[in-house]
Amino acid sequence: MKKPDNLILVIFGATGDLTSRKLIPAIYSLQKQDLLPERFELIGLGRTEITSDIFRQMMEEAIVNYSGEEVDSKENVQKFLANISYRKIAYDNQEDYRNLGTFISQRCSTLDIGNNLIFYMATPPSLYELIAGNLASAGLTKQDSGFRRLIIEKPFGYDLESGIKLNNTLHRLITEDQIYRIDHYLGKETVQNLLVTRFANGIFEPLWNRNYIHRVEITSAESIGVEDRGSYYDSSGALRDMVQNHLLQMVGLTAMEPPSSLDADAIRNEVLKVFQSFQPIKESEVPGQVIRGQYTGSRIRGEAVPGYRHEKNVNIHSRTETYVAMKFFINNWRWGGVPFYIRTGKRLPTRVTEIVIHFKPTPHHLFQRVVGNRSGNQLIIRIQPDEGILLKFDMKEPGAGFNVKNVNMDFHYKDLADVRVPSAYERLLFDVMEGDSTLFSRDDEVEMAWKFVEPVQRAWKNNPEIKIYGYPAGTWGPEISNSLIEGDGLSWRYPCKNLADEELYCEL
Ligand code: BG6
Repeated sequence: MKKPDNLILVIFGATGDLTSRKLIPAIYSLQKQDLLPERFELIGLGRTEITSDIFRQMMEEAIVNYSGEEVDSKENVQKFLANISYRKIAYDNQEDYRNLGTFISQRCSTLDIGNNLIFYMATPPSLYELIAGNLASAGLTKQDSGFRRLIIEKPFGYDLESGIKLNNTLHRLITEDQIYRIDHYLGKETVQNLLVTRFANGIFEPLWNRNYIHRVEITSAESIGVEDRGSYYDSSGALRDMVQNHLLQMVGLTAMEPPSSLDADAIRNEVLKVFQSFQPIKESEVPGQVIRGQYTGSRIRGEAVPGYRHEKNVNIHSRTETYVAMKFFINNWRWGGVPFYIRTGKRLPTRVTEIVIHFKPTPHHLFQRVVGNRSGNQLIIRIQPDEGILLKFDMKEPGAGFNVKNVNMDFHYKDLADVRVPSAYERLLFDVMEGDSTLFSRDDEVEMAWKFVEPVQRAWKNNPEIKIYGYPAGTWGPEISNSLIEGDGLSWRYPCKNLADEELYCEL
C-alpha cells in the first residue's frame, strides 16, 4: 500500500487515556506495517508539565500495555519513540498557540517534512471550540502549502442545538472537508464489511427490502460498567453515548441504498437519506417506543458488582440511563412498515454487537413438525466478538416424515488464517493521513441523528414519570424491552443465553 505524504500529527490531550489506550498503539501498529509517512513526527500537547523524555516513557508503557501481541523489538519501539515530543500548553492561552506554530515551523524545516498538519483533539469535547478557535487565530488551520486536518471524537454536541452550534463554530474557522469526526464503529472491519456483503453479492440485495424482511434488530451489548468514566457518563447516558452515533451509523449502513461509487460523499449521502427518512418519534410515543434502564447492584460469577448509582463520580440519585432499547421505522420505499429494533447497555451478560436481519416466513407452513425453535431465516452479521456472518435456515431432519430443523451456515473471520483484523483507530488514522473521509461522520449526518433522538431526550427531561427500569447487573436489561417486539412470541435474539459460571464468550 502507498504511504501517506509526510506530516506532523499534533495530539491535544496527549497525557490522557485515549492517547495511551487507542492512538499510540494504533500509530505504532501503522509503523510496524510500514504505513506511516516516510517522514513523520508526533507532537503531544497537554496541560501537565512533563518533559519529552517522560512522555516518551509513558508512550512506551502504552505500547507495552495496550498493543497486545503486537510489540516487536526494543529497537523498533525506540525508533518509533524517537519521532515523539511533548509540549505543555494552556488551552486558552493564545501565546502558547503562537509558540506552537513557531515550534512546528522549526520542526518542519529541520526535518524537511513539508507542511502537512493533523490536529487530533483527544480532549474533553467542551474544549473543541476553544482549541479550534485558537489554532485558527494562530494561523495554524490555513491550508497554504500543506493540508490542515482536524480530528474530533464524539460526542459532537449534547443535543441538536449544541450539535449545530459546534458545526457552525467549526465552519466559521475551517471547511467541512478539513474536519474528521471519528465514530470508531465505522473503523471496525466488520462494519465496513456490511457494504461489501450487501453490494458485492447479487444474492442479498434482491431480498433486502420490505417484501422479504420482517424486522431488523441491532444489539450492542457491553459487560463492563462505566468504569472510571462516571462523571462523563452520568451527564451523557446510553442514548447520547451509543445510540445517537454508533447504533444509528450501523442502521445507516444496513438500510442505505447502493451508492453510485465508493466516493466518501456518495456513501455518506446515502446514509444521510436514511437518517432523513426516520419516522420521527413524537414525545407522546416515547414511552411506547423507547425503554430506558439502569443497572442495579448484583453478583456476577460470585462477585458483588455495584449498581450504577454507586459507581465512582455518579450521582447517587442519578436518572441517567445505562440501557436503551427502541423501535422505529424508516419511511421510504425500501423499508416502509419494517420495524427496526436497536438496543445497547452496560453491564449486560457479555460484550456482543450484531445486526440481525429477520426474513419473513414462507406464506404457507407446509411442514408442521418443527424440531427446536421456529427461528426462521435470519442473517446475522456479527460485528464483535467472533466476527463473521451466519445464515439460519430450515432443513429436513434425517429420518421418517418431514421434520424441520433450523441450522446454521456460517463464516468466521478467524478462519481466514494469517489475516490480521486491524483496530478501528488504525484504519481511521490512516484514512485521515490519506485524506479519505468516507468513514467519518459528516456535519449533516450528525445533525440529523441528533434531530432523531431529540424528542426522546425532551420526553425524558420533561416527564420524570417515564419509568427508568432497574435491571440487575449481568442480565439482558429490563424484561419489558421484549414487549417492544411486535408479533406473537417474538423477542430479541439472545446470542449467548445460557449463563455459565465463566466469562461468556459469544460464539457466532
Ligand atoms: C464508546 C463509548 O464510544 O464506545 C463507550 O463512549 C463504549 O461507553 C464504547 O464503551 C464501546 O466501543 P467498543 O468498540 O468497545 O464496542
